[in-house]
Parts: sequence; C-alpha cells; structure tokens
Amino acid sequence: MHNNRKVMIWRSSKVLVCLSVIVTFVLGGEEASQLKCADFNTTTWLEYRQATKLQVRYLLLTRNNMDCASLFTQDCLNHTQKHTAYFNTSHATKVIVHGYRALGSKPSWVGGLAQALLREEDVNVLVVDWLYGASFAYNLVVENYKEVAVQISMLINHLTKSGSLLESFHFIGVSLGAHVSGFVGTLFEGKLGRITGLDPAGPMFKSADPFDRLDSSDALFVEAIHTDSDYFGISIPVGHVDFFLNGGMDQAGCARSRFASILFFFPVYGYVICDHMRAVHVYMSALNGSCPLTGIPCSSYEEFLAGNCVTCDGAFNGTCPEIGLLKNSGIAATPLPNRAKVYLLTTATAPYCAHHILVELKVSPLDKTAEVQLTLVSPGQPETELRLKLNTEEIEYKRMTVHPVELCQIDTVQLKNTGARFYRQGEIHFEYICISGVPQTRGTEPICVKNIRIGRGVPWSHDFVQVC
Ligand SMILES: *[C@@H]1O[C@H](CO)[C@@H](O)[C@H](O)[C@H]1NC(C)=O
Ligand SMILES: *[C@@H]1O[C@H](CO)[C@@H](O)[C@H](O)[C@H]1NC(C)=O
Ligand SMILES: *[C@@H]1O[C@H](CO)[C@@H](O)[C@H](O)[C@H]1NC(C)=O
Ligand SMILES: *[C@@H]1O[C@H](CO)[C@@H](O)[C@H](O)[C@H]1NC(C)=O
Ligand SMILES: *[C@@H]1O[C@H](CO)[C@@H](O)[C@H](O)[C@H]1NC(C)=O
Repeated sequence: MHNNRKVMIWRSSKVLVCLSVIVTFVLGGEEASQLKCADFNTTTWLEYRQATKLQVRYLLLTRNNMDCASLFTQDCLNHTQKHTAYFNTSHATKVIVHGYRALGSKPSWVGGLAQALLREEDVNVLVVDWLYGASFAYNLVVENYKEVAVQISMLINHLTKSGSLLESFHFIGVSLGAHVSGFVGTLFEGKLGRITGLDPAGPMFKSADPFDRLDSSDALFVEAIHTDSDYFGISIPVGHVDFFLNGGMDQAGCARSRFASILFFFPVYGYVICDHMRAVHVYMSALNGSCPLTGIPCSSYEEFLAGNCVTCDGAFNGTCPEIGLLKNSGIAATPLPNRAKVYLLTTATAPYCAHHILVELKVSPLDKTAEVQLTLVSPGQPETELRLKLNTEEIEYKRMTVHPVELCQIDTVQLKNTGARFYRQGEIHFEYICISGVPQTRGTEPICVKNIRIGRGVPWSHDFVQVC
C-alpha cells in the first residue's frame, strides 16, 4: 500500500562518542550516520544573569576531525571506548583561549585558527570555551579569568598524568585569553612549552603585577603580537619577544577614528576591534606560510622607521624572530632575549607580509627645502611610494619601507622632485641613492645609483639588471 512512498524510519540510537553525537537513521532502507559537531555554548544576557558558575568546556580537534569538533572530557582519554577524536598524549597540544566577548557570541576565527594549526602539525587542538565567563561586563570578566585558568590547569594536570609532557603544551591566547594562558603558566611555574599572546588585553593589565598578567616567566618561550596597544591591547612588552606590527597601534586597512567605540552597537563592533583582531589574522596567515613575517629588534618604532635598526645582532645572536611555529620563533640565542621589542611593517590585506627595504640617500647641501618622491617598481606588483622632505641642514637620509617582493625583484627606481610652492629647491644633486634588503646580513651589498641631478617636476628613473 505504501510501496511507492519513501518511508523514513528513525532508529533511535544516540551514541555518545566523546560527547559528539552520532545519530543513526534509516533512509529508504539504507542506514546512514550523521555526526553532530560540538560547538561553543553561546550565552544570552538572560541566561548569563540566571546561571551562577563558570561553565568552562573544551572542544577537541585533530587531523581526524578537522571540521567537526567533539566536546572533550577526561573520558575521551579512555582508548578502550570508541571515539571519533582521540586525544593522543604522544602528540603536542595547542590550547586556544579566546578573550572577552562583549555580546556573548562565538569567536568566528576559532575554526580557521584550529585548521591552520592542524595543517601545519599533527597535534591535539583543544579550544577552551569559557564564553559564559567571558561575556558582557568587562570588569566582571576580568574577575573570572584566574578561575578559568585554575580549571584549565586541572585538565592539564590530568593530561600529564595520562602521558602528555608539560613542555608539549602551546597556549595561544587572544586578548584576555593571553592573560588566562599566562596564569595557567604561572600555576605550572613556567614549565609549559610555549605561550603566544595575540594582542594581549591592555585595560586593567598594563600596570598589573607580572604575576597577574602574561609575562616571560610563564612558559619556556613566551611571545606576543601587538596590534592595538593604544586601545584594547597592552603597550608594554610581556614575552621573551614582542612583535609590534606597524608600531603596534594602528593597522593598515583599519579605520582610524575611535569615536564609535563607546557605543558598542553591532554594526560598529567589528570596526572597533579591527586593529585588535589583526593579530589573530596575521598569525593565521603566518601559519599558512605564504611569506615570512620577520621582526627586527629596535628601541622604538620611530628609530625603526628612521632606518636605524637593520640587523638582529646582539641579544638575538643574528637570528631574527619570525611569526609562526618555528621553535622559539627561530631565535637561536642562549639565553633568550627578554621583553625584546621587535618591529615589522605589514600590508593591509592577507597574507599581510612584505619585504623590508632600507632606502638611503645623500644629497649635496641644499639652499632651500625640497620634497622628493621615490618609487620602487616590480612587474605585476603594486608600486611602493616613499615621500621624503629634504631640508637645508641634513645631507644624509634613511627610511625603512616595505615592498611586496624581495629586493632582487625590484626592476626600477623612479625619482621625482615634487617640490612646488613650499619646496623651492630647483635642481637636486644626489650623491647616491641606495636600497638594501632588511634584515641586513654580512656579505650582502646594497644596490646603488650614483651622481644624479634632478630638476623640479622632471621624472627620473633607473632600471636595475638583477637576478634572484
Ligand atoms: C550552556 O549554557 C547554559 C547557560 O548559559 C547552561 O544552562 C547549559 O548547561 C550549557 N550547556 C552545556 C552543554 O554546557
Ligand atoms: C574505559 O572504558 C571501558 C569501557 O567503557 C570501561 O570498562 C573502563 O572502566 C574505562 N576505563 C577508565 C580508566 O575509565
Ligand atoms: C598516537 O600518536 C603516535 C605517534 O604519532 C602513534 O604511533 C599512535 O598510533 C597514536 N595513537 C592513537 C590512539 O592514535
Ligand atoms: C590559509 O590557507 C587556506 C588553504 O590554502 C585558505 O583557505 C585560507 O583562507 C588561508 N588563510 C589565511 C588567513 O590566509
Ligand atoms: C649564536 O649562534 C651560533 C650559531 O650561529 C651558536 O653556535 C652560538 O652558540 C650562539 N651563541 C649564543 C650566545 O647563543
């Protein structure tokens, strides 16, 4: 009677597999399984006001379940049970800790970060879901962060008893999550392997005791990436090495105005945290490994831009730190540097990296001020433009800039005496113009053009013949 109709029979067998649910059902006679993935437990304001304790949960992702998290509990370590995702204690573990969530919503970048990590290394990725404690009032959230750290440390304790090594844990903490990670590190007396702070939170932490915030004693290697240190991020160095991107305050491609920040409405929220979240996006890009993001140690951003820091000598023993998963960020120095500020320039869009180029020039003394525009040209790439104001007192000038490709791929340098109204110098005589790749290593020479005369408004260009 019902032969022609598709009959769907649900067989009620919910199998708890590390608490992610497999629903088995029969569809038109064939058995099929569907895995329900675990996710963040988002919190609404109403639930938030009703609940009483922190609800810290863990999501596990491995190469076997890169797109589908399982809820992780200590039971998942029992390998005699059937699980979709095993926490393998002989693998290293990445622990991702999110930060403050103004609206109680799930952090959108978590999946991308976990997958980027898993593509690079065969590790356990544990995502800490402490949305409940991280949402709404910032000052209350700050009260919670140590309790969250204590709970995480109990899990880590359990994992080490099952065979994980303390030094195999790498915490990646975003904003306030960086200080949560730091406090877990404090509880383990600095014996965790590594902590990466992605724009560690600034408000209420800048003047805090190192015990209460992320600092270099919290793990064998601590690094931080700073992108919004004048606002949501911390302005002081907190790790062995601290990467300050574009000076660490304002990021290319993010709007500058902060007037909307006090409003905290949905439409402006993403805009307000653009600088702050750039650390996460740059880190993910670095994991993808499309190009190096190399920092140069320097006392300040101004000194860096002035071209006064071009090597990684000294405390870095000639090894420049690179954002990514290299051991100690690639620094081969004993002891490691401490609270060392390193600077790099990035572009406005993914993959954010660019090649640092030092421009040096020397002019014959000028009678009047002048302005010149220098352009670096590589085929198929956006041009790099640099404007320089020349005065009557100085004859030597240096500037740091970035170009999309390496020095050896620069085909042409163009120069223009752009001075009009305010800059009256007619002809400028350049004794030399040199460009060189940064970091500078022994044996690499800058490429130079010598003895150039340029009249006002008359463009000049020089082609290089180079091979990479
Ligand atoms: C999710 O959060 C709500 C309150 O925010 C809580 O009642 C519920 O138990 C949580 N669920 C899980 C699976 O932790
Ligand atoms: C692991 O699971 C098996 C089967 O469910 C159970 O018999 C055993 O007691 C569990 N072992 C531990 C250490 O929990
Ligand atoms: C854990 O990892 C080790 C080393 O990669 C591997 O030999 C072992 O089979 C893994 N164990 C499980 C249960 O997957
Ligand atoms: C990283 O690479 C993957 C795969 O090539 C791509 O889907 C993803 O968008 C990349 N992420 C970033 C941040 O570049
Ligand atoms: C500096 O690096 C070299 C290798 O390039 C290494 O042999 C040496 O031990 C390092 N020195 C310090 C002080 O770390």
